[in-house]
Amino acid sequence: MCGIVGAVAKRNIAPVLLEGIARLEYRGYDSTGLAVVHSTKTLERLVSTARVADLVAQAEAKGVDAATGISHTRWATHGKPSETNAHPHTSHNEIALVHNGIIENYEVLREMLKAEGYEFISQTDTEVIAHLVHKHWHGNAHGDLRRAVQATVRQLIGAYAIAVVSAREPGRLVGARFGSPLVIGRNDDGSYLASDAVALLPETQNIAYLEEGDVVDLTREAIVCYDRNEETVERPTVYLEASTAQVELGPYRHFMQKEIFEQPRAIADTLEGVEMVTPLLFGENAAEVFSKIDSVLILACGTSHYAGQVAKQWIESLVQMPCQVEIASEYRYRDSVPNPNALVIVVSQSGETADTLSALNHAKKLGHTHTLTICNVATSAMVRQTELRFITRAGIEIGVASTKAFTTQLVALFLLALTLAKGRNRLAAEEEAFWLRTLRHLPSAIQAALALEPQVIAWAEAFSHKASALFLGRGLHYPIAQEGSLKLKETSYIHAEAFPAGELKHGPLALVDVDVPVVAIAPNNALLEKLKSNLQEVRARGAELYVVADLDSHLAAGDGIHLLRVPEHASLLSPVVHVAPLQLLAYHTAVLRGTDVDKPRNLAKSVTVE
Ligand code: M6R
Repeated sequence: MCGIVGAVAKRNIAPVLLEGIARLEYRGYDSTGLAVVHSTKTLERLVSTARVADLVAQAEAKGVDAATGISHTRWATHGKPSETNAHPHTSHNEIALVHNGIIENYEVLREMLKAEGYEFISQTDTEVIAHLVHKHWHGNAHGDLRRAVQATVRQLIGAYAIAVVSAREPGRLVGARFGSPLVIGRNDDGSYLASDAVALLPETQNIAYLEEGDVVDLTREAIVCYDRNEETVERPTVYLEASTAQVELGPYRHFMQKEIFEQPRAIADTLEGVEMVTPLLFGENAAEVFSKIDSVLILACGTSHYAGQVAKQWIESLVQMPCQVEIASEYRYRDSVPNPNALVIVVSQSGETADTLSALNHAKKLGHTHTLTICNVATSAMVRQTELRFITRAGIEIGVASTKAFTTQLVALFLLALTLAKGRNRLAAEEEAFWLRTLRHLPSAIQAALALEPQVIAWAEAFSHKASALFLGRGLHYPIAQEGSLKLKETSYIHAEAFPAGELKHGPLALVDVDVPVVAIAPNNALLEKLKSNLQEVRARGAELYVVADLDSHLAAGDGIHLLRVPEHASLLSPVVHVAPLQLLAYHTAVLRGTDVDKPRNLAKSVTVE
């Protein structure tokens, strides 16, 4: 994944580079580093395997002061997190480079460069790019950094966003992208680039998004952009409204906690302006597209995939339309049977997930033309690549564990199910009114579920001493059990698995014993009686049961049975409410175990590599 920042200005850019990567830490935090070019035509490189704060301390201690530079926050792919593998990578102290992405042909390139006398000190794929730039810079590019980068990227196979500086050219910075995002922006002081606009917001809110294959040449005075044919090109500038205040922690201890508690507002914001169920919610020509489709194919990863699994059941029940949900990283590598009449939906918090973007492109190559993105980032690559879109209004999500993005995705997907049902005359006026009322009531229903926090903390105390946990759900709530299990493992590092409750006796029951707590999502619906039998089977094996039920469920707490009653019954929308206690359980268990809740080990917020 990784985040990169580059700046060339009339003043010291070290603070811009450091603040920029602090804002990009969501993309990875295995190591950080920066390189600046001094007017004396020398490079200075600092790296740290701790967080950005440590790099800031180093920069202050050394009094780093230069007007051109690059910085990086790493999510390790090739080579363990170490100072040697940290970016920027350099070549002969003349070229310094930062990279986000994966170079697939790096081994071939490394052998070629070694044969030419280049020495490699890291295990990264990135070091080959630095040496290649150096080679071209001394060769046919005749000391012109932009030409050297253009010659370099012609040899790369894979994904990259890079920023490069040369010791010989203070006041110049060159960037390039293919498969990984890169944005540019200017202000009166200079020119900037970054993996994500959020890194540049303190400098400028006027941002341009580079296209695949672009190379950019940045000086203090101007940015010149070249397309993949090396012709100069203008990329449109957009004004970003995102307020920097949105990323403040406020009174909360962690962003995950803040974001869990922001869900009532996030859902209300997502529903703002939704007066009726209409295709217009998804784009101007959505009515025409929706009238042509006969099925739905949802592509997503992780938490977004679970939102898709819930949506499948809504769509098949309310619309009576077949709906398939695929893990994006699997879909693109298997032989599937394309249906050109299917609506392909990509669901993503970030809109930059490489697996989901690749799956979307694969679907298009297979002949799918009807595409819709459900995403929380209006300017993301995914949104720009589909015919239709629905932007959730969760606000920036910082915690790596997705919470408010998930529940707002569910709201968007439910609106889609209603819209498709209405278009097929399967939604009577009174049903539309009922569901709109139920949707508008969701914020207070979630608020009521969040008020169960003190009881959840008591559960978390028990969980914090366990090595494993099981999550059970049925129907609409099986994906919620999966989501609860994913939240627990990614934040607390406790091994957790989810199963449809009826599957237990087919194998997983062998895992059940007194040391394995079992969480069951037990809303008051048609499957409750069946679920109760499954729970008896678990209790009989000595496991402690932690049941998330509805207020009106005929379930009683007792010996080894702990019960939370979610106060509001949201019928088909109950997955949106029942997930809240599970998010809190993961959060508080993680806090008690002392993990890095917002930045769990080995993970990143935006997964921009395959
Ligand atoms: O940005 P996306 O929604 O496409 O990300 C997909 C997954 O990487 C993401 O949901 C991941 O599973 C989260 N860490 C879950 O909390």
